[in-house]
Amino acid sequence: MRVGAFIALSAMSALTPCAAGAAGDSERGRTIAETWCVSCHARQSDQTAIDAAPSLSAIQERPDLTPDRLRTWLADPHPPMPNLNLTRQEIEDLVAYLRRPD
Ligand code: HEC
Repeated sequence: MRVGAFIALSAMSALTPCAAGAAGDSERGRTIAETWCVSCHARQSDQTAIDAAPSLSAIQERPDLTPDRLRTWLADPHPPMPNLNLTRQEIEDLVAYLRRPD
């Protein structure tokens, strides 16, 4: 009995963070960026990954890259950046991470 109740409780607490809605999570965005983007986009302006790609910090500071433009770009980037087939949730997480801090 006790063991069963313990398992039920742990299962509930493990599920709670997943209940977050569609809003972007910048921490998840950072993880996605560090997994999928840093092979081309360096993290900081003074580092280079590949020359053609702006660094992630340069992207964060570009005033023209509004959340809407980021969404559009990430859903359908043009060459030389490949389409990474991101889900809508991944795009929202990346937008939360990459948008200009207010
Ligand atoms: C294979 C290399 C590569 C990967 C992987 C890649 N990019 Fe890019 N990205 C580029 C290049 C090259 C450009 C510059 C395109 C240009 O200036 O025309 C670019 C441009 C961009 C821009 C600027 C768009 C604009 O309007 O100027 C954003 C934002 C961006 N990438 C975000 C990302 C994110 C977020 C990821 C990871 C999910 C990612 N990229 C993964 C190569 C890559």
